Amino acid sequence: MKSARPDRTHETGAETGDAPRAATHGQPAQALLEARGLVKHFPLKKNVLGRGGGVVRAVDGISISVRSGETLGVVGESGCGKSTTARVLMQLIAHDRGELLFEGQTVGSREMPLKAFRRQVQMVFQDSYASLNPRLTIEDSIAFAPQVHGTPRREAVERARDLLARVGLEPRRFAERYPHELSGGQRQRINIARALALQPRLIILDEAVSALDKSVEAQVLNLLLDLKETFGLTYVFISHDLNVVRYMCDRVMVMYLGQVVELGDSEQLFKDPRHPYTRALLSSIPAMDPDQRTDQPPLAGDPPNPINPPSGCRFHTRCAHAQPLCAEREPALARSSDGHAVACWMQVADSGHPDAPTAREAA
Ligand SMILES: Nc1ncnc2c1ncn2[C@@H]1O[C@H](COP(=O)(O)OP(=O)(O)OP(=O)(O)O)[C@@H](O)[C@H]1O
Ligand SMILES: [Mg+2]
Repeated sequence: MKSARPDRTHETGAETGDAPRAATHGQPAQALLEARGLVKHFPLKKNVLGRGGGVVRAVDGISISVRSGETLGVVGESGCGKSTTARVLMQLIAHDRGELLFEGQTVGSREMPLKAFRRQVQMVFQDSYASLNPRLTIEDSIAFAPQVHGTPRREAVERARDLLARVGLEPRRFAERYPHELSGGQRQRINIARALALQPRLIILDEAVSALDKSVEAQVLNLLLDLKETFGLTYVFISHDLNVVRYMCDRVMVMYLGQVVELGDSEQLFKDPRHPYTRALLSSIPAMDPDQRTDQPPLAGDPPNPINPPSGCRFHTRCAHAQPLCAEREPALARSSDGHAVACWMQVADSGHPDAPTAREAA
């Protein structure tokens, strides 16, 4: 793909300050949530012989901005750091390095204290049962967090009933039931209602529909789209199902071993994936349409160990196009003139990779 012209690079990503012009004001659309060079490493304990130790580099320098009103998809193989990124973005766990900003204010600062931030961002997980307290009725579960934040009980319960109706569960039938009396799809609707109870701006959905069977999954996805519209929400949508990501997301971020390797408009990324890892990932989607089938080789083998990731481009050990350069130097996530960002030497003019465009071709 030599048409893309990388025009800007920086150390940890290409997202900061990249928002498009808002149609109405001619100002850059404000990033709702912005991560700058986020790092989260998990230290491992040594065994009794003093062996082991080291750190899992689960999130290793991620810079992204989640734009107000969008659905940003996050994809990548198991263990690439999607959930850890989500947990850091929500501050369920603290990051080791980097900065997180909500509407331009540093999270944890006087302007955006953690408590205020936590009201704004909610999460829905894959396991619908584990997220619910088995001893609380459905209505008490939904009303719990608002009460902790100071809403009087009566008002919180009234709102819980309203939310039940909004997620498609008749309050009279469901309010007084317990989680074990519901199906997985119904429980996930309850979890969505709980996430909405604090009137957040951003909801992070981590494989939130993955455990549901296909027909229920489709209903919950459509519910999520409706709620987004109704409440003016922004979503970060993590899923291993690329067809669902394509259906749901405005933009998609592809992660590999704790880093972002590609980020772009969803339609564009699915039609014209530029990183060899993204291409391999997409070639694993079962396609009904023969025109959509690709001859890209699917991914072989497991991802390398995140404790000791490969040098240079982390994907070079599995990449059919790897050159010595790829093992030596790490490509930055570089944004092309069309807004699509890729971290690959083949996309950088005159990088020294034989498949890279020359500066003249790229101009
Ligand atoms: N608390 C922890 N302690 C040590 N290592 C951890 C911890 N949490 C996650 N990891 C490691 O960090 C890496 C990223 O994990 P993470 O759960 O973010 O991956 P993921 O992309 O969400 O995977 P999946 O698709 O399977 O959910 C993995 O190697 C994982 O083993
Ligand atoms: Mg996960």
